[in-house]
Amino acid sequence: MTLPAHTVEAVPASPGSTARAHLLNGDSVARYRAALADGVDRVARRVAGAERPFTGITPDALAPQIAGIDLDRPLGDAGAALDELDDVYLRDAVWFHHPRYLAHLNCPVAIPALLGEAVLTAVNSSLDTWDQSAGATLIERRLIDWTATRIGFGPAADGIFTSGGSQSNLQALLLAREEACRSASTWDARRELLPRLRVITSAAGHFSVQKSAKLLGLAPDAVITVETDPQRRMVPAAVQREIARCRRDGLVVMAVVATAGTTDFGSIDPLAEVAAICATVGAWLHVDAAYGCGLLVSPTRRHLLDGIERADSVTVDYHKSFFQPVSSSALLVRDGAVLRHATYHADYLNPARMVEQRIPNQVDKSLQTTRRFDALKLWLTLRVMGPDALGALFDEVVDRAAGAWELVSEDPRFEVVTRSSLSTVVFRYLPTGPDRELADAANLYAREALASSGAALVAGTTVDGRHFLKFTLLNPETTLDDVGHVLELIAEHASRYVHERSTAADLTCQVG
Ligand SMILES: Cc1ncc(COP(=O)(O)O)c(C=O)c1O
Repeated sequence: MTLPAHTVEAVPASPGSTARAHLLNGDSVARYRAALADGVDRVARRVAGAERPFTGITPDALAPQIAGIDLDRPLGDAGAALDELDDVYLRDAVWFHHPRYLAHLNCPVAIPALLGEAVLTAVNSSLDTWDQSAGATLIERRLIDWTATRIGFGPAADGIFTSGGSQSNLQALLLAREEACRSASTWDARRELLPRLRVITSAAGHFSVQKSAKLLGLAPDAVITVETDPQRRMVPAAVQREIARCRRDGLVVMAVVATAGTTDFGSIDPLAEVAAICATVGAWLHVDAAYGCGLLVSPTRRHLLDGIERADSVTVDYHKSFFQPVSSSALLVRDGAVLRHATYHADYLNPARMVEQRIPNQVDKSLQTTRRFDALKLWLTLRVMGPDALGALFDEVVDRAAGAWELVSEDPRFEVVTRSSLSTVVFRYLPTGPDRELADAANLYAREALASSGAALVAGTTVDGRHFLKFTLLNPETTLDDVGHVLELIAEHASRYVHERSTAADLTCQVG
């Protein structure tokens, strides 16, 4: 039966057939086609019609609408559910494709990847075992090999797709912990060693390092954060100093985590120098390239990652700088044998004999069991666009950030922090006068006022204890005009706040 596009067939009335009619199978493909076409069409209309990145809706305004929906009373057809969804989600969604979305590390998504998403969820392969994923397992493996080659790893390399950078970092540190514990052959020896394990990262490293250390049962003070240079890059001499201190104190450095693209500053730690230090002392080097991995395909900036090939493990987030929808990330390791630390053989799923039979089961390498075929999104993106096109898009946003940095640094109303190697700009509005608290409050206010208006979204962070604003540019559609316009809005909000505060203070003085 052929249904016209956008028409969702009414479901038969009897409860059994009603339920079954919603399952995708050979009999329901017309419903499947129509429902997805309708959904895609509504999203497309919202994307095309988004005049602002956000409506400014507050949780208080939206929560009652969502709470008021009776989940035990289904609407029966996809069209009605989509109408409702438009009210509670699509209308007020935050749109990353909008050129004035300048806040977090969210990218506009590549259409081939969206195609991949639609295919992978419908087929619903699960990447744990070959008998649930067949070709998908091999496609994921090809992408892992491709990424490892881009990193510069040798033939022993391997890896696994994960849900995101946090999970990739967690798994990297799990492998590092297990390698560090290899000498502790008894439980008693391990119990004695675990509290002495240390991880060195920089003050600008991602918080998932701390979180991972906690999850891995390390001591509360296991993560040592060393200082950064004025460009917010890890200082190699400080790493060396901390390694020496650990040795003196009977502590064991189980890993050094260098960052290729810090979340706030887009700074890239001196990878080659840190790798040389790690090689000298035999410490595991993990490079968190969740953000900077886009440079792997950059036609002009790949050299910024030189030294990454000397890492033991690398995190890449395709959902940050490869224009992939969430989630799409991977952990790569120089020596694939270390992935055995994540291996567990379950009789029902991946018994050890499968290894002898050379049946490729990705669950042997993963922290997850059932796992999405996220790799398909990257596969289709590479097959349609190719790596150079992706890299050129990433280069464009890096160029745009350099332009934005110049714009902000030439504007006396603002103070800017370091110049990013990637695509962030950290800055703040500076009220005239020495009142630093006022500067903090004015910038916090400006960010919130901007978000409430929905005209633009920017991020915030603290630098040396002071509040700053942050642009993260990941959208090649963002122009310098957009950046200039947002700066004007920030200045307007912040100066109004300063003016109102000083008027209120004057009034208080007069009354007093
Ligand atoms: C440098 C860095 N590492 C790790 C992460 C965590 O990645 P995810 O959000 O995919 O878990 C982020 C997220 O922003 C990041 O910037």
